[in-house]
This record gives sequence, C-alpha cells and structure tokens, in this order.
Amino acid sequence: MAPPNQIHVAILAAGKGTRMKSSVPKVLHGIGGLTIIERVLRTAATVNPQTITVVVGYGAEALKASLAKRASSPALQFVVQDQQLGTGHALLQTRPVLEGKSGTLVLLSGDVPLLTPDTLSALLETHAEAGAAATVITANVRRPYGYGRIVRTSGRLTKIVEERDASDAQRKITEINSGIYAFALEPLFKALDSLGTANNQAEYYLPDLITIYRKQRKPVATYTVARMDEVRGINSRTELAEVSTMVRQQKNEELMAAGVTLIDPATTYIDADVIVGPDTVIHPCVFLEGSTEIGSACEIHAGARIVNSTVGDRVCVRNHTVVTDSTIGAGAILGPFAHIRPGSQVGDDAHIGNFVELKKTIIGQGAKANHLAYLGDATIGSATNVGAGTITCNYDGDKKHQTTIGKGVFVGSNSTLVAPITLADGSYIAAGSTVTTDVPAEALAIGRARQENKAGWVAKRAARKTN
Ligand code: UD1
Ligand code: CA
Repeated sequence: MAPPNQIHVAILAAGKGTRMKSSVPKVLHGIGGLTIIERVLRTAATVNPQTITVVVGYGAEALKASLAKRASSPALQFVVQDQQLGTGHALLQTRPVLEGKSGTLVLLSGDVPLLTPDTLSALLETHAEAGAAATVITANVRRPYGYGRIVRTSGRLTKIVEERDASDAQRKITEINSGIYAFALEPLFKALDSLGTANNQAEYYLPDLITIYRKQRKPVATYTVARMDEVRGINSRTELAEVSTMVRQQKNEELMAAGVTLIDPATTYIDADVIVGPDTVIHPCVFLEGSTEIGSACEIHAGARIVNSTVGDRVCVRNHTVVTDSTIGAGAILGPFAHIRPGSQVGDDAHIGNFVELKKTIIGQGAKANHLAYLGDATIGSATNVGAGTITCNYDGDKKHQTTIGKGVFVGSNSTLVAPITLADGSYIAAGSTVTTDVPAEALAIGRARQENKAGWVAKRAARKTN
C-alpha cells in the first residue's frame, strides 16, 4: 500500500471544449464564482499530493495565466499537449514530471468539478486495498449516452468501451466510466507506451489501459459513486448552467444551515468563498460575489450586488445597491440605488442614500450623504452631513485630486467642491456654493452669485408685451 505521502495528481485540461462554442478554454468558465478547474484543483489539494501536473493544450497561455494567480501547495506544474490525440496521449505528456516516481497517481478531468473529497479518499482506499494497477471511478446512470461503458465479466471489470466503438449490447450498459482514476505509478508509462489508436476516433484512449493491465494479469478495481452528479462532466453551456444551479443551491443550503435567512434560495446568487453571518436576511435577486464577507443581522434587499467587500454587522443594504472592493462599517445604511466603488470605506452607522456614488472615499462614523452626490477621492469626517447634489470635482482633466472634509461639517445642498480642497472641522458650506479655496474650522463659506430681486418686474414685462 502506497504511503499517503506518495500521492501525485494529474489533471487533463488540454481539450478545446468544442461544444462550449467559446474562445475561452472550457475549464476557465465559471461556476458559482470559481473557474471549473479551480474547483478541480481544490478537490485535488485534499489528498495532499506531492505534485500536481496540469496537462494544457488549447488556450494553454490563458489557462496558465489564470492559474498563475493562485497560491498552491505544491506549486502547479504544466505540461503542454500540442495536439489533442486522446486522453491516453494527454497523460503521456506528464512523463517528464512523473516517470520514475512511485506511489499513486490520481487522474482528474479538468471538466468534472463536482467530485467530492470523500469520493477521492474512497477511491484511494479502494485502490490501496485492492493493490490495483488501476482503479476506475464508475457511476450507474439513467442516460449513459456519450460515456465510456464499464464492461464486466462475472462482476469484474474487463474493459471500457467508448460510445462510438460499442456494440448495441454494450450501449445498453448503464455503468459508465467517470474518467477519474487512481493508477500505480511504477507500471504506468510503460503501459501507456503500448496504447494504440485502433478505434473509431483514431485516438489514444486512456481507458484501454484497463485492457492492457487485464492481459498482463495486473489487478484492476472500480469504485462506484452513489451520486452520479459528482462525476458529471461539463461539455456545453447547458451543462454549465445546470451544474451552476446545483452548486449554488448547495452553497445556499450551507448558509441556511448556518443561520442565514434566504427569502428565495432559487434566486440568490452567492459565490463559493462568500461568508455570511447568522441572522442576516437576504432577499431575492441578491448577488454576493468573490471574497465578500457579510456580518450578522444584516438585511440585504433585492437587487443588491456586493463584490469582494467586507460588510459589518447590522448593516442594511437597500435595493439595487452595488458595492465593489469596499468596506462597510457596522450599522451603516446603504441605498437604495447607492454605488460604492472600489477603495471606499463607509464608517459605522453612516448613511449613504439614493443615487450617491463613492469612489476611493472614506466616510467617517455616523456621517451622512443621503441623496444624489458624487464623492470621489475624498475623506469625510465623522458626523458630517453632505447635502443633496454635492459633487467633489476630483478630476481636472489630467489628474485626480483629494477632497478632505473634517468632522461635523455641514455641506449645503448642491455644493461643488473643487479639489484639492480641505473643509476643516465644524465648517459650514452654504447651499449652492462652488468652493475653490480651503475653509477654516467653524467658518461659513459662501461661494455663489448674490441674489438680486427685481421689484415689480412682472408688471413691467406685461406692459412691454401689450405695447
Ligand atoms: C472520456 C472517456 C470516457 C468517459 C468520459 C467521462 C476516453 C477515451 N473516454 O470521454 O470513457 O466516460 O471521459 O467524462 O478517455 N483531454 C486532453 N487531451 C486530449 C483529449 C482529452 O487533455 O487529447 C482532456 C479533456 O480536456 C477533458 C478530458 O481529457 O478534460 C476528457 O476528454 P473528453 O474529450 O471530454 O473525453 P470524453 O469523450 O468525455
Ligand atoms: Ca468529457
């Protein structure tokens, strides 16, 4: 039995995924906030492999670039399969990394994202107990069309036959090959060398290894999963959507089990890594994406979208608010229709109301901007009130400039703050002001044309008209 520290993983991901009709490699399509291959890699990591080798081909550069961003232990290795000559040929490309190593190789398919860690460890257990040269994960399915069929004699696996090579009788077999295997490494590459291409697709079929091992009287074994969904491959956009729905419902169930209320799980879209605290209520059509963390006892209303952001406890996010790469303090109220753009920090108990846009702006504790404002590149002190229609003019057509507003400042409605500018603590800005020079603490700034009332003007105009 191979000690657990001698496990290696290879992932086949060189295929184009023709049926996706996409310029993006199939395994880079997303499911619940993670790429298909990211999900496979996370499952792979659970067996603590010594090496992980990804076989890339179609879209190799895009795939490598996407995976270069991820921290992985052990580091991923890539081998390139220039021509997709079949799954057996794909595995052969791992030879420079794996030949001469001993122990067990777990072979995963880059397009099968729902396999669970439990199933992988059961595969390894079965493989070790049988002392097998190869162990295949199989599943019993209602519609086996398209899959390789498991052919057994007296209950023992004798070979795997692809759909296109199968006889009518073999096509009726409902036990299928998942494309996921454990292999003993010692005999593997020698056996792969003897694969032929005498089949309907003239490809090197990896499942033919079973026939080779059986001829060599080497033990082969199978492990059958109870849930077919685990070994579902993604080959089309329809399958992508179906699997996404399953993944999403599973995430929603985990959150509900942890004390989160989802008003309508069917229309709640929460990515894999999102964390939500208990007693938070999430209304329909809410999107929580990326690395978002939501505190407890929050209320997130319909249509909100929160991306890579941290939201404290007891926050109310009203309808159709968008928050990206920002931090929201406890007890804050956002929206409806607020737009919190990257780099913003909204302090505890602050209010950001309808049609208010923040960009790289820090809002102090208890500060308010309740209506119709653009606050960009600004720092706003605690308990400051920003009136309706206030605009930070942060861009001079060339560079961005900072606006600094102190604590307890009152910015009257429709103020235009021409940055760089500082409004010191406790200052007042008269409504409608265009502020171009700094305002000292506790001063009143009025920057607008003085109003003139023309007495009797209406009567004079009427007289002009009749003449
Ligand atoms: C394969 C199996 C089939 C099994 C099914 C399960 C073979 C011959 N057949 O069929 O028995 O039921 O998976 O899903 O293995 N790939 C490469 N290089 C290649 C060819 C494929 O990297 O030259 C990769 C693909 O990107 C994919 C995986 O191998 O990730 C499976 O290939 P695919 O063409 O989807 O095989 P199936 O026809 O589905
Ligand atoms: Ca497939």
